[in-house]
Amino acid sequence: PRAHIGLDRRAVVGPVRRRTFGSFVEHLGRCVYTGLYEPDHPTANEDGFRTDVVELVRELGTTTVRYPGGNFVSGFRWEDSVGPREQRPVRRDLSWHSLESNQVGLDEFAKWLKLTGSELMLAVNVATRGILPALDLLEYANHPSGTALSDLRIANGTPEPHDVRMWCLGNEMDGPWQTGFMTADDYGKIAARTAAAMKAADQDLELVVCGSSGSGMPTFGDWERTVLEHSYDYVDYVSCHAYYQVHDGDLGSFLASSVDMEFFIDTVLATADHVGHKRQSKKRMNISFDEWNVWYLEEHKASDEVNDEWRHAPRQLEDVYTVADAVVVGNLLMTLLKRSDRVTSASLAQLVNVIAPIMTEPGGPAWRQTTFHPFSITSRLASGEVLRPVIDAPTYLTARHGEASLVDAVATVDGDRAAVFLVNRDLTENAQVTIDLHGLAATRITETLTLADADPYAKNTLADPLRVVPTANTGAALADGVLTVELPPVSWTAIALG
Ligand code: AHR
Repeated sequence: PRAHIGLDRRAVVGPVRRRTFGSFVEHLGRCVYTGLYEPDHPTANEDGFRTDVVELVRELGTTTVRYPGGNFVSGFRWEDSVGPREQRPVRRDLSWHSLESNQVGLDEFAKWLKLTGSELMLAVNVATRGILPALDLLEYANHPSGTALSDLRIANGTPEPHDVRMWCLGNEMDGPWQTGFMTADDYGKIAARTAAAMKAADQDLELVVCGSSGSGMPTFGDWERTVLEHSYDYVDYVSCHAYYQVHDGDLGSFLASSVDMEFFIDTVLATADHVGHKRQSKKRMNISFDEWNVWYLEEHKASDEVNDEWRHAPRQLEDVYTVADAVVVGNLLMTLLKRSDRVTSASLAQLVNVIAPIMTEPGGPAWRQTTFHPFSITSRLASGEVLRPVIDAPTYLTARHGEASLVDAVATVDGDRAAVFLVNRDLTENAQVTIDLHGLAATRITETLTLADADPYAKNTLADPLRVVPTANTGAALADGVLTVELPPVSWTAIALG
């Protein structure tokens, strides 16, 4: 296909939000144990954290990290995970049918995050606990000193408060799989009361109320409306969660997953604005897209190490990602950027081993999955403001998402620097793309990176961790304010300009 893209310096969507490049660490499978924490590993530091993983997380460029769940949080007692390690109880985690040793808790995780340069985003258990435990956690985490729980934190070895700004009011409360799931009405009331109490302690907290677990949920839309009717005045974000996968070998639909994400965002914002308008509120609700990724959910049900045994850190949800998966991840991130006016925080779910861009082997190496690359490169190159491109490209019909453009793009501009991110969804043909840069100060190409492979199902594995890496797009050229580039089939590309 041939595509023409017009960029106009004045067509600003909003700022590039650093929180768009957030991620998610759940106590699930080997995300924490033998993922980021493995005291016997040759690269472990004095706190037991794998420094090879820390280096990869830094390279990935994550900003905010959501913790400790996920479904896990709905059975979690935060008190179990602080204080002397030898006194911490082992508990059953019903959501993932495994054992939690509590050897890593809030204080350790916050210490690990400092190594990676990321911000902590905490979830409280509103499903099976209540307002007081949430307030207690807030006091333990954020109060400087001189109260029972802040002094307990200090006695536990963390003198400075964690000063957590973003808090999730539970997780996926609409899902029947959630321990303590609720109706929208019940959850909306509890979320409102919990949020009001937390804001009585600190009115500057940024609180996220649970939206739908996916746009395919039977309650989608009604859930957001009802929950926000109760909680609108007390919360700052409504969450969205979305996972995509290839269904029945239909790669064309899968590559258009962003179309569903756009629909999801638009629908949630329309619903939130409707509620806000009805309430005559001046507040504008933003989205925390705090779980998004490719996840081969159905396949795991058959293959994961989950059985009647209760095991510690079993191998669960260890998806091995393909080139096509990476193209979709890159495209979803482009979509989040395109809506950075209202999607002001997001979390790639998850970070290590569990549906993750980074994999580890116990006692062995850590490596980058295919999906690592578009995330890391976008986090590094996107800065300043997001521009809304005008895309003139042929479309194709997908079974799951209707009409989709064969080429998608977004751009960012920061003074005389700019970056353009592109995907070619065509399964067999190169895309010839011209990009009109008039109005942008950039005069030369400073970097080009394309992720593609003759085999769209190529993967990085323990045996072959560098099978898929991005390479320079040597054909890209800039002349008279027009950038020309050829995009291979099923590919993701970044072009930096200066
Ligand atoms: O990220 C994996 C799981 O997906 C999370 O625990 C849950 O919130 C979602 O269903």
